[in-house]
Amino acid sequence: MRLLSLVGARPQFIKEAAIYREIKNHPEIEEILVHSGQHYDFNMSDVFFQVLDIRIPDYNLGVGSASHSVMTAKIMIEFEKVVLKEKPDLIIVYGDTNTTMAGALVGAKLKIPVAHVEAGIRQKPKDMPEEINRVVTDHVSKLLFAPSKLAVENLKKEGIENGVYFAGDVMYDLFLMMKERFNYDILKELDLKEGEYIVTTIHRDFNTDDPEVLRSIINQLEKIAKDIRVIFPIHPRTKNRIKEYGFENLISSIEVIEPVDYLSMIGLVCRSKFVITDSGGLQKEAYFCKKRAIVVMPDTGWRELIEAGWNILSKPNEILQNALKIGSDVIYPESLYGNGDASRKIVHILKK
Ligand code: UD1
Repeated sequence: MRLLSLVGARPQFIKEAAIYREIKNHPEIEEILVHSGQHYDFNMSDVFFQVLDIRIPDYNLGVGSASHSVMTAKIMIEFEKVVLKEKPDLIIVYGDTNTTMAGALVGAKLKIPVAHVEAGIRQKPKDMPEEINRVVTDHVSKLLFAPSKLAVENLKKEGIENGVYFAGDVMYDLFLMMKERFNYDILKELDLKEGEYIVTTIHRDFNTDDPEVLRSIINQLEKIAKDIRVIFPIHPRTKNRIKEYGFENLISSIEVIEPVDYLSMIGLVCRSKFVITDSGGLQKEAYFCKKRAIVVMPDTGWRELIEAGWNILSKPNEILQNALKIGSDVIYPESLYGNGDASRKIVHILKK
């Protein structure tokens, strides 16, 4: 069986790493790996391939940054050429990025079955780019691997029942696989003590592209940073916006660092007090580390964590007041995203 996997952005490298490890156990599956080039900086892309031992992609489409439509269109144009040349039996796409949707559309138009890993996640606002990408991808995919039971229900509500499997979350698989390799030395490098700092990441357009919202987030984090160290590995988009809006002088106590690789990020999160983030992946990785997260989003697709009281949804100007709630006892909600065998289940179904 010839399988074409398409990745392009940080969270997809993580998901691919889990699937790739399982595929290696099945010599009858030939995997061709394509990188769209959506993320291209060394510490947004190459470093993930290095630390996660993913092989070098067979193709890099080199699309780079652009408006959503231009990026999606460019990926479609270049990816179609690869698909026509390689003639795969199946295309795999991951998550919710422009790369995901572009790959799914190419597969659907060429009538090549598409498998979507992390299908069925839904969140508001409905016009956010990631939500559009997920909905479109799910509606043109033949195999839909849901990471949670809620994701299966979401698909059912949209009339999608055929080809849906509750597999669990491949990000949890990778977390377990990599456990022994998490980089805790980064604490020494940053002179951090376990439990005495917070990790934050902010990169979503609704948090970065409105100056007043970004200002409010920085102000809230600054207030928190007066009491506890706040470590902020910064996404290039956020860094650019801070510069553009002239907000550098708002930052004095928050400790901004360059984006870090997967093993260092999980090392940081697992020894932190808690996490403040708008990343879909990180709010779950905090949970895998048994750390709580304040999720700076109007809504999240990882709703189970909110309903269990583990994670807290927060408006930008309420981060501090929500941070103060984190001390209270909440029972750890076990096994929300499967048992760490999602990639094994997925590859088993792909083979069938
Ligand atoms: C994308 C995904 C999002 C995912 C996130 C992980 C979409 C719509 N969103 O968001 O689902 O959670 O990746 O990080 O696909 N940039 C660089 N260097 C890079 C990459 C990006 O400088 O290597 C800058 C560019 O200015 C770019 C901006 O960051 O325009 C945003 O990048 P983009 O890939 O469009 O979206 P993300 O916010 O990273």
